[in-house]
Amino acid sequence: MQTAQTISELYRNAWSSFATGVTVITTVEPDGLVHGMTASSVTSVSLDPPLVLAVIGESRQSHGLIESTGRFGMSILDAAQTDIAKHFATPPESRGDLDSSKIAQLAGTPIIANSIAAMDCKVSAAYKAGDHTVFVGEVEAIEVGTGDPLVWFQRQFGGFADQGSGSEFK
Ligand SMILES: Cc1cc2nc3c(=O)[nH]c(=O)nc-3n(C[C@H](O)[C@H](O)[C@H](O)COP(=O)(O)O)c2cc1C
Repeated sequence: MQTAQTISELYRNAWSSFATGVTVITTVEPDGLVHGMTASSVTSVSLDPPLVLAVIGESRQSHGLIESTGRFGMSILDAAQTDIAKHFATPPESRGDLDSSKIAQLAGTPIIANSIAAMDCKVSAAYKAGDHTVFVGEVEAIEVGTGDPLVWFQRQFGGFADQGSGSEFK
C-alpha cells in the first residue's frame, strides 16, 4: 500500500508530465489595481452556453478576488510571453511591477495584451474540491489573436512542436 506521502510525490510527478498551455487569470483588486495569476488547470467546458473552468488554490490571492468580484479574465499565453507567466507565478509580494503595456482590456475586464486568445468571464458556479475551488465562468466576450502557444511540461516552459501530420481532427 502506498503511503500518503508517496501518493503526493507520485501525483506531482505524474501531472508534471501532462503538457498544458499556460494562461493568466486576471481580476481586479478593491482599489482598482489589476491582479493576475498564472494558471494551467483550466479547460473549456461547454459551447452552449460557452463555459470555461479554472481550478484555483484557496491560498491564492486570486481566489478571494474572484469570489468577491464574480468575474475573471483568462488569457492564453504566446510562447514569447514566458516573462509574464513567470511574473504571475511568483507570490504577489515578491513580484515587483509589471509594465502596464502588458495589460489590455476586454469588455472592461483586464486581460494580457498580445495573448493568443483572451476571454471575459462571469462566475456561474464554484465548487470546492479539496484545497482548490473549481470556478466555472460563462464567457461573455472573446478576442482571438495569432501566435504559437506557451507550453508547460515537467516544470519548464517551452514551445509546441508539431509532427507535420496535418489536420486529422476538427
Ligand atoms: C505553469 C504554472 C501553472 C500554474 N497553474 C495554477 C493553477 O491552475 N491553479 C493554481 O491555483 N495555481 C497555479 N499556479 C501557481 C500560481 O500561479 C501561483 O501560486 C501564484 O503566485 C498565485 O498568485 P496569487 O496568490 O496572486 O493569486 C501555477 C504556476 C505555474 C508556474
